[in-house]
Amino acid sequence: MKELDIGSATSTIVLISGDGTNLQAILDEITNNHLPIRIILVLSDNPQAYGIKRAKNAGIPTKIINYHGFKDKADFHLSMEENVKKIDPDLIVLAGYMRILSEEFCRQFTGKILNIHPSLLPKFRGLNTYQRVLDSGDEFHGSTVHFVTSKLDSGPIILQYRTKIRTTDDSKQLRKRVQLGEYQIYPMAIRWFAEGSLKMIKGKTTLNGKRISKPKILEET
Ligand code: GRF
Repeated sequence: MKELDIGSATSTIVLISGDGTNLQAILDEITNNHLPIRIILVLSDNPQAYGIKRAKNAGIPTKIINYHGFKDKADFHLSMEENVKKIDPDLIVLAGYMRILSEEFCRQFTGKILNIHPSLLPKFRGLNTYQRVLDSGDEFHGSTVHFVTSKLDSGPIILQYRTKIRTTDDSKQLRKRVQLGEYQIYPMAIRWFAEGSLKMIKGKTTLNGKRISKPKILEET
């Protein structure tokens, strides 16, 4: 089998706050399908995040920048900026990171930050998307991978996973189904980025040199 050339792999920091199942999906994709990234740090704002254990199990360095350990938000943001800046990664992956990044952070790393948000953006920005979509009577729900800008859940969209809402769905069931889709689309978009086919140019998503105005959609099968 051909050895993966880690020298050319995209250096990546993953930011988490919780369970880290998306982080796990990415780690599995690196191991099983040679996703060409090298995770150099998993950074959590929450000391209790289970994702830290997942990173350690995979032999990846971890760091906790505990939000509650700072006297104010500005100091926390500064520490985040400094810690990430000194590593200067090629890519920053938000995988269930529950804090809003500072404007300065977004500016410093424009075009290098990806997020996954559990809705078919631009619908349902913010929290509690599962219950909100069920209450809305919409036909579909899903998740979106997008570039991060300083405007919350509003950066250029890349790829979506879409599932039809069932009459029997509650928010827990719907979440479970959407998350299974996330484990497919997030590694997919990260691969495009690492291979150089996905870029953010002048605030727009481009894939293979072409600007896309609508997200790519992966339907549940
Ligand atoms: C994901 O479902 C993602 O949509 C949202 O936060 C959740 C994090 O889950 N941004 P996990 O920590 O990856 O398990």
